[in-house]
Amino acid sequence: MNPLNHVAIIMDGNGRWGLKNENSRNAGHKAGLKTVEKIIKESIKNNVKFLTLFAFSTENWKRPKKEISFLFNLLEDFLKNKIDDLNKQNIKLKIIGIKNFSTRLNKLLNISEKKTSKNTKIQINLALNYGSKSELVNAFKNLIKNNDKINEKNLSKHLQTKNIPDPDILIRTGDKKRLSNFLLWQLAYSEIFFEKKLWPDFNENDYNKIIKKFRSIKRNFGKI
Ligand code: FPP
Repeated sequence: MNPLNHVAIIMDGNGRWGLKNENSRNAGHKAGLKTVEKIIKESIKNNVKFLTLFAFSTENWKRPKKEISFLFNLLEDFLKNKIDDLNKQNIKLKIIGIKNFSTRLNKLLNISEKKTSKNTKIQINLALNYGSKSELVNAFKNLIKNNDKINEKNLSKHLQTKNIPDPDILIRTGDKKRLSNFLLWQLAYSEIFFEKKLWPDFNENDYNKIIKKFRSIKRNFGKI
């Protein structure tokens, strides 16, 4: 049975769910946050040690201003209301991506990371303003600047995911089969599951089915 340390998720389909059910894309984001909470709980039950959630890509800035501010307000309220609870549950929060939001949100993100930094039950990596290509370019720049030898191990040390094992599983909901500039280096050997359901409809049962399937896969890592 395969050990499961790290699950990464592209939470796609909020907008379509919102339009279909409540005639508003933002309603889909609100419903998507409920799924986030469910999947965190279920990850803990499955003893997953790292859960990486793609919440906002560098490309998402191209969305209408109103949708962007809705998403960040949702995140802000979530952290204000839930960070103490996450902390009590021994959950560590880490942001991957470039924190160049409002001073208020940057401060809240830093406080949330600091408060939970010693926790050990599970690490939630929230990918915010994250883009894999620019992460790689920056990593190469830093390698060169530090005069480090260019090899896989050294490059990994300059990624935002340093000290985080590569994902065992990538799940993308929302019936699209693409990686959308997410963890391109780190996903080299991950098992990929494309799920038809939109993120707000994805549930514990769907998640457990994927985990069960993953456990039974023979992972070769290039061997036979
Ligand atoms: C992709 O769906 C989803 C996002 C860009 C945002 C993800 C945000 C959440 C799940 C809720 C907020 C999370 C936190 C942690 C506060 P889409 O809008 O691209 O869907 P579409 O493909 O149907 O348009």
